[in-house]
Amino acid sequence: MAVKFYQSENQVPLEMHKVRVIQKLSLLPVEERLKKIQQAGNNTFLLENEDIYLDMLTDSGVNAMSDLQMAASMQADDSYAGSATFKRVKAAIKEVFGTDNVLPAHQGRACENILASALVKPGQTALMNFHFTTTKAHVTRMGGTVEELVAEKGLKPQSDDPFKGDFDLKKLKATIKEKGAENIAFVRVEAGTNLIGGQPVSLENMLAVTDICHDNGIVSVLDASLLQDNIYFMKTREARCKYMDIKAIYHLLADHFDIIYFSARKLSFSKGGIITSKDPKYTKMMMEYIPLYEGFLTYGGIDVRTMESMAQGLYESLDMEYINQGPEFINYLAKELDDYGVPVILPAGGLGCHLNAGAFVPNVPHNQYPAAAVATALYIAGGIRGMERGTLSEQRNPDGTEPYSELELMRLAVPRRVYTLSQLKYVADRVKWVWDNRELIGGLEWVEEPSVLRFFFGRLKEIGYWQEQLAEKFRKDFGDSL
Ligand code: F0G
Repeated sequence: MAVKFYQSENQVPLEMHKVRVIQKLSLLPVEERLKKIQQAGNNTFLLENEDIYLDMLTDSGVNAMSDLQMAASMQADDSYAGSATFKRVKAAIKEVFGTDNVLPAHQGRACENILASALVKPGQTALMNFHFTTTKAHVTRMGGTVEELVAEKGLKPQSDDPFKGDFDLKKLKATIKEKGAENIAFVRVEAGTNLIGGQPVSLENMLAVTDICHDNGIVSVLDASLLQDNIYFMKTREARCKYMDIKAIYHLLADHFDIIYFSARKLSFSKGGIITSKDPKYTKMMMEYIPLYEGFLTYGGIDVRTMESMAQGLYESLDMEYINQGPEFINYLAKELDDYGVPVILPAGGLGCHLNAGAFVPNVPHNQYPAAAVATALYIAGGIRGMERGTLSEQRNPDGTEPYSELELMRLAVPRRVYTLSQLKYVADRVKWVWDNRELIGGLEWVEEPSVLRFFFGRLKEIGYWQEQLAEKFRKDFGDSL
């Protein structure tokens, strides 16, 4: 139940936790920020943390741990095999998902590597509501292809649809019929669909997808990395979930999906990855790859202290007073920006607030990377590190052409339980300034373009001298302020 403020105009999301460990931050002057982003090849991945005031690159592995998670990490058992720590992880998975078969892997993409190695044969297709970068890379590495079947509403930047991550069920049925079930490696539902703005999938839609898979003898997979946020949205936006226990939702999903995997860098506020299934036949198919790529079956490449905090974090993912914090802060930021007229993805999803860079700088074409340009502008304006999630995050086609992303998004991730509301207010303020000065923003061009996952290591430069002009304008508007 949300806490109501007496003065309704003062209503803000209220944390049900307090901060007892802090970390010092610094904010460089704008002239330094200009230098740093250019030295980083205009790629926010290449910035040094010491040069960043608010790191909103990702929500992965950067969530704040609770006192109980820190305490749990002290009781870790680091025996190579038969470790008591793994037993505690299994107990937590059993409690949260109700499943007995558990494989650990060092992070989410390691689960995807194993999933693709076991399930994808050359020429097969994996159907998804939407791809995620690493998921797609693993499927294609095995000679498979990915097809996206998100409902049309998912790609509309602004609407009031509560579940923009839903599958188009008609298309799913038609695609299976057209390709033949034997040519489908698996169907994957991504909860809290990352690349379209952390948009949730309804419980009804998830169950309908698993029914279709079941009817056609196709393996159904749930990527539960962002399930925690997705469950918050089910509870608050889907009538049938309102009175359901959170645990009952997890259990229902595990009853229906053949395989569930997640990045514990998101779900459970820790690090690591897990694959779990109710039916042991699926974990058996994947088991042999764990010692090969990850580590023994009882640790899978995860540090044992981390496994203990993962177990505790999983229990915390059943607590509404913890899981509401991310989505409510994100909603607060998105609403502030919307009130300022800044184009943001609405309704706000989980993971972070997403600026619609296509509408922010419509004069910057796809091949000059509008979302990356806005990301550099915001770093110059406020020492805030966001992430490009658009054309730059795509891979070139084999013939060298660029697939243009339908949505050019600049993501401002909100790590869970980390930032305060005043810091988010600062973000909104600086974004508003960038918005008001958007006509200064120009495009970027490659200096070094890697052939795989180019967004991680690529280096770019500004086209013209717009960044210098933006920094000068900042100095003029803000005087001697940092
Ligand atoms: N699935 C989803 C939905 C994700 O968001 C991620 C990671 C992964 C799988 C891979 O997990 O990082 O533990 O290997 N998303 C991060 C992000 C990288 O910043 O959005 P991982």
